[in-house]
Amino acid sequence: MNISASQSALDFAGKGAERIAELFYWMTGGAIVIWIVVIGLAVYAVMSRRAHPVRMTHWLVIGGGAVIPTITLTALLSYGLAMLPELQEPAPKGSTTIEVAGVRWWWRVNYLDPSGGRIVTANEIYLPVDQPVEFKLTSEDVIHSFWIPSLGGKIDMVPGRTNRLKLHPTREGVFHGVCAEFCGEAHAQMRFRVVVTDQNAFDEWLETQSQASKSSSEMAEGEAMFLSRGCSACHTIRGTSADGMVGPDLTHFGSRLSIAAGVLDNTPQNLARWLVDTHGVKPGVEMPAFESLSGEEVDTLVRYLGALQ
Ligand code: CUA
Repeated sequence: MNISASQSALDFAGKGAERIAELFYWMTGGAIVIWIVVIGLAVYAVMSRRAHPVRMTHWLVIGGGAVIPTITLTALLSYGLAMLPELQEPAPKGSTTIEVAGVRWWWRVNYLDPSGGRIVTANEIYLPVDQPVEFKLTSEDVIHSFWIPSLGGKIDMVPGRTNRLKLHPTREGVFHGVCAEFCGEAHAQMRFRVVVTDQNAFDEWLETQSQASKSSSEMAEGEAMFLSRGCSACHTIRGTSADGMVGPDLTHFGSRLSIAAGVLDNTPQNLARWLVDTHGVKPGVEMPAFESLSGEEVDTLVRYLGALQ
């Protein structure tokens, strides 16, 4: 899988983003037309001012200042408004529905499974290619904004209300998602990854995520440390007694691409750094740094978390 993630609205990989990119190019074209007309008339007026002073003023006011910009901007406005119903259309019934809540400064992700299974993850969203999906977006604290530039438009996440967004990925790949509303100290580090795969890989992923993490005898020491060090007060690992709801669900942590809401790649070195230098990596984050852990203890925890596939 190519994991060089894209974060450009012009490098589109979804229907909504494609329409937005079209609109961007038409608006740029319109702006160029207006600029050329206005500057052209201004230059022409200055050059021939002495010969026909009154006629030139008329030309400038009527042509450059009113007629051409009005025609161009009206055409662009009509084009943009005509696009709105398509972008705001809800996803068809039976589409994959995903609840995402913004939390300072990460994303709680919950797949609504028609069979009633519980599929909870964080900071990473898998989507099937060529299928519409519906997002139900809310916030648990302040206003955030959910934006996957390559897939479509952004929409606010407001506490106490649910906003809906339909996305329709058209290309497989890994894409960046970001928070697009200033929400405090770590706003710039409130990111996530979006993995668009074919239907089979998506179904497999859902199946894995719906299950508790598999444990083995090698994981027992790490699990005991996770529980005794208090990690379980904030984090859930399904299949163990860790059931905290304050921070991200870590049941399948080892399968994720990033740590700390899209800030670091998920490698053992980065995870070790995150555990002891938490606030150096992400200032303002709620999670305390575990500076008192010995190097060996950090290794044990890192191995354990990495094994949560
Ligand atoms: Cu959340 Cu900015």
